Amino acid sequence: MDLPTLLKNRKSVRDFLDRPVEREKIMICLEAARLAPSACNSQPWKFIVVDDKQLKNKLCDAAFRGIYSIMSFCKTAPVMVVIVSEKSRFLAQIGGMFRGVKYYLIDIGIAGEHFILQAEDLGLGTCWIGWFNERAVKSTLNIPQHKKIDMLIALGYYDKEKVCSEHVREPMDKIASFNSY
Ligand SMILES: Cc1cc2nc3c(=O)[nH]c(=O)nc-3n(C[C@H](O)[C@H](O)[C@H](O)COP(=O)(O)O)c2cc1C
Repeated sequence: MDLPTLLKNRKSVRDFLDRPVEREKIMICLEAARLAPSACNSQPWKFIVVDDKQLKNKLCDAAFRGIYSIMSFCKTAPVMVVIVSEKSRFLAQIGGMFRGVKYYLIDIGIAGEHFILQAEDLGLGTCWIGWFNERAVKSTLNIPQHKKIDMLIALGYYDKEKVCSEHVREPMDKIASFNSY
């Protein structure tokens, strides 16, 4: 798929098919994430792929209860990807503090989007998930409590007919300009 078509086709998927995702395809997505740029080349991420059905269900039950239960649609996803935000290199941390920028969040955003675009190219749907019980995710996957998990990605096959066809976006003249604000 050419890039403009890929970008147009990618939409958040919130209803997945009950079909397992091949490990080979997941590895291709992980390789796309691995190649992402990051501040000072810190690569401050670890992707934990949960594709074991029983564990994935346990993870979703834990992550999406109570105030997070609105994200229960993730239970239909055959794969959940947990992005652990690892420590950036010292220079990126210091630079980030000086500039007041959390570079590591930008880094995991870029790496995650590489993963997501690669998934779309392989016919797989995804949804970024930022609303979940972080503590419960850590306990379920034996991730030390001092680690930070900022984002999850739901992944799986989906019915293209069921995904809303329109991107709801601000007009171009609102989001971009040339040569002045
Ligand atoms: C940082 C971030 C966090 C998000 N968190 C959630 C979430 O917790 N639940 C959800 O259903 N969608 C979540 N989304 C998906 C957005 O709602 C979605 O990207 C946006 O509405 C645009 O729709 P589209 O992805 O179909 O183009 C998140 C997206 C981003 C980038």
